[in-house]
Amino acid sequence: MTEKNAGLKLWKTRSTQVGWVLLPLRVFLGVTMVYAALLKFFDPAYLDPNSPNGVQQQMLASAATSPISFIVNMTADHAAVFGLTIAFGELAVGLGVLLGLWTRIAAIGGFLLSLSFLLTVSWGTSPYFFGPDIVFMFAFTPLMIGGDGGVWSLATFIRRGTRKRMRLANPAPANESERVSSDVDRRVLLRTGATAAVIGVGALIIGGIGRASAGSTSTDAATAAPSAGAAPAVPTGATAATAVSTTTKPAGGIKIAKTSAIPVGGVKAFTDPKTKAPAYLLQPKKGTFLAYSAVCTHQGCTVGFDQPSNQFACPCHGARFDGTTGDVLRGPARTPLAKINVVASGGNVYVV
Ligand code: FES
Repeated sequence: MTEKNAGLKLWKTRSTQVGWVLLPLRVFLGVTMVYAALLKFFDPAYLDPNSPNGVQQQMLASAATSPISFIVNMTADHAAVFGLTIAFGELAVGLGVLLGLWTRIAAIGGFLLSLSFLLTVSWGTSPYFFGPDIVFMFAFTPLMIGGDGGVWSLATFIRRGTRKRMRLANPAPANESERVSSDVDRRVLLRTGATAAVIGVGALIIGGIGRASAGSTSTDAATAAPSAGAAPAVPTGATAATAVSTTTKPAGGIKIAKTSAIPVGGVKAFTDPKTKAPAYLLQPKKGTFLAYSAVCTHQGCTVGFDQPSNQFACPCHGARFDGTTGDVLRGPARTPLAKINVVASGGNVYVV
């Protein structure tokens, strides 16, 4: 057989084997989940309860549109624990899928994580197929069904090694006794468990380093930040979304926050009491308050606030909005974020 024919035959054989067919998907999902986890570990804002990009404020913002808002509101009080669970969950899923260690279980974990994101962050996306989480959720289903098929698989490597050490044939012959098979399974389970534990400890160390370095970055930023120049500029003649402090409660106003809850130059997520949609309240300079809907005008995802660039950022398709005016800076959105009329009075901020 010529070299070309042998290559063609190998290609044809592999294209019918589930492990090889699913390998590109496995690599993509594994790398993406590990990357997503590392971004969270090394992000100084991730566990900061006052940051609009922190997990707590994101949870509160998405609770307004989520069909499981009662669970989101309940868990928001323990956002740090929840946020770390998500980050470690993503890391475990990514490594499991990538290394082929308990691949099906890791894929079930990835499916559940994506489902939780779908029910919270991207629930408002319309039409539904514009949201990334529903795609990730279904991308994990072939791996849940087919596993790694023994291709590039640490679990298969461990099984082969175990059988070799027991002087058993590889792969197992059809007539192998049940007693021998269960003995092999038990040893493989112990060894894969020990390997998973070692990888888990490695993940904890990586996560710990990430949080420690994020903590030091955050401290540096906090020390350097609060100068008057750091606050976003307020546009001249800022409109109905702007409120300057008065002393009387506005007629029909609905209180959304204490003025002291928003530092100058800071941002706070809240639920618009009139539309029940997620929104952001900003105090770009002392006594001046702005509020914008957090619903992206492209397809309805919940935008986050990127403090360093003073921009609202949409996680779904990358639209960017000016952090002071709500204007579109980058598509695909074409319409500015909706302004919300707010008034500051007597130490409180009201939606009017
Ligand atoms: S929903 Fe598409 S950019 Fe925001």
